[in-house]
Amino acid sequence: MQSFRVDLRSDTVSRPSDAMRRAMAAADVGDAWYGDDPTVNALQDRAADVTDKEAAVFVPTGTMANQIALALHVHGGGHLVAGSAVAHVATTEVMTSAALSGIAFRGIDAGPRGWIDADQARALLAPDSFYDVEVVDLLAVENTVGAVGGRVMPVEELRAVRKVARDAAVAVHLDGARIFNAAAAAGAEVAEWTREVDTVMFCVSKGLGAPIGSLLCGTADQMREARRLQILFGGAWRQAGIVAAAGIVGLRDGPGRLPEDHARAARLAAGVAERLPGAVSPDQVETNMVFVDTEAVGLPILDTIERLAALGVGATHGAGKVRMVTHVDVDDEGLAFALEAWETIAKER
Ligand SMILES: Cc1ncc(COP(=O)(O)O)c(C=O)c1O
Repeated sequence: MQSFRVDLRSDTVSRPSDAMRRAMAAADVGDAWYGDDPTVNALQDRAADVTDKEAAVFVPTGTMANQIALALHVHGGGHLVAGSAVAHVATTEVMTSAALSGIAFRGIDAGPRGWIDADQARALLAPDSFYDVEVVDLLAVENTVGAVGGRVMPVEELRAVRKVARDAAVAVHLDGARIFNAAAAAGAEVAEWTREVDTVMFCVSKGLGAPIGSLLCGTADQMREARRLQILFGGAWRQAGIVAAAGIVGLRDGPGRLPEDHARAARLAAGVAERLPGAVSPDQVETNMVFVDTEAVGLPILDTIERLAALGVGATHGAGKVRMVTHVDVDDEGLAFALEAWETIAKER
């Protein structure tokens, strides 16, 4: 087991707050499989409200929420999901949807920003005019885009993509694992994005600080079918109110706090750039992720991650760079500690 003085590997590593633990201890629970858990039901209602959808389903992971959504929209073999090639559903989850639902993916290089624009959506949805063997049933978008360092897809870009999809009669699913980070960065409501899509999933287990869980949101009919798929995939749980209670606290307290994470990520990027000029562009840090191109300054990625770990700082890698993510358990002291570690690494270079 690894333990770090400051763990920047992901925003999923944070521990539940005291308020969450109290809410968990006091949670009123029932059997969620039967729809009887009042705390799960309350979290689902809040999720539906905040995304401006009719209903929501609470599941253990973002992967399960995405996979239920994909299976909801895709009808049959040879039918595809399309989107940015760096999307979580196109990379980490691509074998999951192949194995669970026989789904294949059509990806496009969206460039350094990671999200597709309307022209790229049009190219992805162009009919297969020669043989008609491939059918795109779903366009998947992600916000923020994790693989490029948590960049924000602006709402007007999503609106334009949505119009292309609607004209092609194709549904849109939003992997909004970090949609609250996108909203905080843009100073807008989450619903501005979620209204533009057919289904959305978001995680309470990431920046919102809860220990477990994700919500899939859509119409009441879609969520009825989502419940069937949740059972099919083995994700229908019992007294899940224990964890839903923490999700409710996360939804209440989390969004307002995210600007702090973003400000610390910006300071982290600026501090690393000062110590290792050319390794990071602070202007590309839009939310809570910092990607450092250590190879560009002669520091091999894996060695650097090991060096950081030895100095008490957890980091990981993504897109060929060292990845750090700020979250609720990283305070100013932790930030200073991480920057000291980078100082040591820079000096020893
Ligand atoms: C953008 C995105 N989507 C989906 C997921 C999957 O979430 P989970 O780890 O809860 O399965 C992640 C996880 O990091 C993610 O970053």
